Amino acid sequence: MSNLTRIGVAIDADLLEKFDELIEQRGYPNRSEAFRDLIRNELVEESWQSPESEVVGSVTLVYNHHVRQLNDKLLDLQHDHHDSILSTLHVHLDHENCLEVLLIKGKAAAVNQIANALISTKGVKHGRLTLSSSGRNLE
Ligand code: NI
Repeated sequence: MSNLTRIGVAIDADLLEKFDELIEQRGYPNRSEAFRDLIRNELVEESWQSPESEVVGSVTLVYNHHVRQLNDKLLDLQHDHHDSILSTLHVHLDHENCLEVLLIKGKAAAVNQIANALISTKGVKHGRLTLSSSGRNLE
């Protein structure tokens, strides 16, 4: 970590006690690391609001592969966006249900648009986009 600066924070004792319990549950070695993660998380979440910011996301889809033309539609969408989709994982959950995880990288607006198109495809039982950061500009 470059250029460390030490700061003092005034905080209510009860609030600090709750914070200490939380970070212990989560396994943080100390308050500093927990504070840094909180700050990074806020910065990353803020970046998602900007359509032009570079993000990475994972889309989880659960669908029934027996639904007519659903596989074709999902594959067509993926080929339409081959530049943005880095990788896909497909698991056959049981006789009819499939789990697919797609990793997408690009501008926030584009990643959201691709995810929404996949998730809203008729026959997809459940879909979720989880956004993260490209890691650039984060120490
Ligand atoms: Ni399958």
